[in-house]
Amino acid sequence: MKKNLYANRFAAVVLAGGEGVRMHSETPKVLHQLAHKPIIEWVLNAVSCTAIHSIILVIGNSRERIRQFVKTLPVARYVHYAIQKQQRGSAHALLQAMPALRRSGRHHCLVVCGDTPLLDAETLGDIMTHHIDHRNAATLLSTHMSNPFGYGRIVRNLKSEMVSVVEERDASPEQRALTEINTGVYCFETSVLARLLKKVKPNNVKKEYYLTDVIDLIRQTGGRVDALCKPDSEQFMGINTRVQLAQAYAVLRKKLINRIMHNGVTVIDPETVYIDPEVTVGSDTIIYPGVHCRGKTHIGSRCSIGPNTLITDSVVESGVSIRSSYIYASRIRAHTAIGPFAHVRPGSDIGPEVKIGNFVEVKQSRLRTGVKAGHLAYLGDADVHEKVNVGAGVITCNYDGRQKHKTVIGKQCFVGTNVSLVAPVTLGNNSFIAAGSTITDHVPAKKLAIARSRQINKTWSYRPRTGRKNK
Ligand code: UD1
Ligand code: MG
Repeated sequence: MKKNLYANRFAAVVLAGGEGVRMHSETPKVLHQLAHKPIIEWVLNAVSCTAIHSIILVIGNSRERIRQFVKTLPVARYVHYAIQKQQRGSAHALLQAMPALRRSGRHHCLVVCGDTPLLDAETLGDIMTHHIDHRNAATLLSTHMSNPFGYGRIVRNLKSEMVSVVEERDASPEQRALTEINTGVYCFETSVLARLLKKVKPNNVKKEYYLTDVIDLIRQTGGRVDALCKPDSEQFMGINTRVQLAQAYAVLRKKLINRIMHNGVTVIDPETVYIDPEVTVGSDTIIYPGVHCRGKTHIGSRCSIGPNTLITDSVVESGVSIRSSYIYASRIRAHTAIGPFAHVRPGSDIGPEVKIGNFVEVKQSRLRTGVKAGHLAYLGDADVHEKVNVGAGVITCNYDGRQKHKTVIGKQCFVGTNVSLVAPVTLGNNSFIAAGSTITDHVPAKKLAIARSRQINKTWSYRPRTGRKNK
C-alpha cells in the first residue's frame, strides 16, 4: 500500500490492556490467533503499513507475555509500551499512553483497539487523511453493521452530525436499533486529548472510563468532531469472544482463498480449505477439499494438492501431486508424487520425479531424481541418490539412543523389502540389498549384500489342523 502522506504527523496508540474476560482463557485475548498469527500482530502490521513509526502499545496484566511476543516481530523497533496496571476502561488505557504520546512529539494520534485484526491499512490511512484535511480535533471511524450487537452506536442529531457514542449496555431500545457503530478507530489532536481525557467520568453501567465519552467532551468544548463512515464493515469486527474469533477467521479465510482463485488456482470446495496469508500458489494448480497450507508455503503451477493434506513452511515446485499427506518445512521438487498417507518431516528435500507412497516417513533426508519409496518405509538422515528403489518396510536405523547417524544410498541401488540399514552406513552405487537384511557395514558398488540367517526346513511331527469352530 501507498504510505500515508501525513504519517509523520502521527503517533499511534494500540489499546491492548483489557483483560479479555469474555474469551475465558489463560492466554491474553490479543495473543489468540487468526490464520496462525496472533491478533495483535495483525493490528500492529496494519498500523505500521501506514508508515507511522511511533507506536505506543498499552498493555495490562498479561504484559510480559505480550511483550515477549511483540519483541519477535519486525515492527518491534517502532513499538513503545505503556502500562495500565488496573483495567478501568479504554479511556483510562489511553491516559496511560499520554506521557509516551507527548514524548513522540507528534501533534496527532491514531488510536486503534488491539482486538480488531481485520483492519485494513488503507482504511487507517483514509481516516488520517480525513482528520488532517478537515482540521478535526477528533475523528471517529464508523460503519454500518446488520447485526450491531455489542458495539457502541453512533448517535447523530437532526443535521446528521455525530453527537455521541452509546455503548450497548447503556443504550435505550431506540439507540440499540441504530446500525451505525463505532469501529474503535479514532484520530485525535494530541493536545486536545491531553486536556480532556482526564475529565472522562465512569458514568455508565460498567463504571468504566469510556474512551467514547471523550468525543462528546471535545464536541461540547467546541472542538471539531466528525465520524467518517466506511463500507466493508467486516474489517472492523472486534474480537471479544471465541465465537467472534471464529467469525473473523471465516471472513479472513474467504478473502485469502478468493485471492488465490483470482490468481488462477482451482479450489474445488473453498469452504474446506485453509490458506495462510503468506502462502502463494501457482496457476492451474488444483486444491481438493480438506487442504491446509500454512506459514511461508509456496506451491508452484499445475500441482494437484489434496484431498486432506497439510503443508507447512514448505516449497512445492510445479507439477507435484500430494494426496492425503503431511509435509513440514521441506522442499518437494518438480513432478514428484507423494501419498496417500505420507509424512514428510522438516529438512527433507525430495525430487524431482520422486514417488513416495503410503505410510512412508521421510525426515531430514535428500531423495534425488527418480527415487521410489512406494510403501511402509522410514528414511531418516539419509541421502538417497538417483533412481534408488526402496522396498516396502525399509528402515534407516538412524538413532543409537544418543546420536543420529547418516545413511547414504548410492545411485540405482535396489534395497529389498524389510531391510534395516543400521547407520552410519553407505551402500555403493548399483548395489543390491536382499530382502530382510540387516545391513551394518558398507556395501561396495555393484555388490549383492545378504545379511540374514539362512532358512532351515526341519522335519517335525506334522498333524493336519482340524480347524476350530467359533463359538
Ligand atoms: C469498544 C468500544 C465500542 C466499539 C468497540 C469496537 C469503548 C468504551 N467501547 O467496545 O464503542 O464499538 O470497541 O470493537 O471503548 N482496553 C484496555 N484497557 C481497559 C479496557 C479496554 O486497554 O481497561 C482495550 C482492550 O484491550 C481492547 C480495547 O481497549 O483492545 C476495547 O476494549 P473492549 O473491552 O474490547 O471494548 P468493546 O466492548 O469491544
Ligand atoms: Mg472489543
